[in-house]
Amino acid sequence: MYIDIHSHIIPGVDDGAKDEAMALKMLKIAHDCGTRHIIATPHYVIGNTRFEFADIMEKCARLNKLVADVGLNITVHPGCEAFITLEVSELYERGLIGTLAGSRCMLVEFPMMSIPPYIDNVLYDLQLKGITPIIAHPECNIEIQENPGLMESYMERGILSQVNSGSVTGIFGVKARRTVMRLIKEGWVHFVASDAHSDTNRNPDLKNAAVVIEKRFGSGMRDELFTKNAIKYLKISPE
Ligand SMILES: [Fe+2]
Repeated sequence: MYIDIHSHIIPGVDDGAKDEAMALKMLKIAHDCGTRHIIATPHYVIGNTRFEFADIMEKCARLNKLVADVGLNITVHPGCEAFITLEVSELYERGLIGTLAGSRCMLVEFPMMSIPPYIDNVLYDLQLKGITPIIAHPECNIEIQENPGLMESYMERGILSQVNSGSVTGIFGVKARRTVMRLIKEGWVHFVASDAHSDTNRNPDLKNAAVVIEKRFGSGMRDELFTKNAIKYLKISPE
């Protein structure tokens, strides 16, 4: 049983599922690979995004009704992927962004090309509010690819990290794959998730990545990264 903490499954709010039909296909793919809980994490980019977190909760309820209607055993939980800017704490206070599945953890996205200096303050501000940031796909950030050791200081500060299944299987290239393996080996990764955007190229099938992780790091590590840490940190009930 997998718990997928990062997906763009809600139709019409970002560059993920185009409509309900595609969202349902994605949920079927997730279900068939063994995922029983999936967190909807639409991008929130200030200036670009129109939804409020209450809308996401409503849309998750709608998807849960659809999956129940077709008899799929999978639960969709609300969340978001907050692009890191100075305003993140304020967006949270205003109810525009929220945590993952009602937990105290929030998925945050760094820019691809750099790690701007204000990021440390933003993360610390969230922690002062009792929120644990989870860095989304650090293996795709160019500075971290060049210097994976940068992740150590986040870990020391109690910040968590999530890598993409596609980075594990190699669809994001050699650098992302090499970085992901190094980060896992060092113990700096807490979750592998799909970051699924569609039912084709970047879909929610976690199976291949789980096989790669099991072969390289063993079944204990696979269980932690795909299931147990979500239960531990996000308090998702495995039932
Ligand atoms: Fe994402």
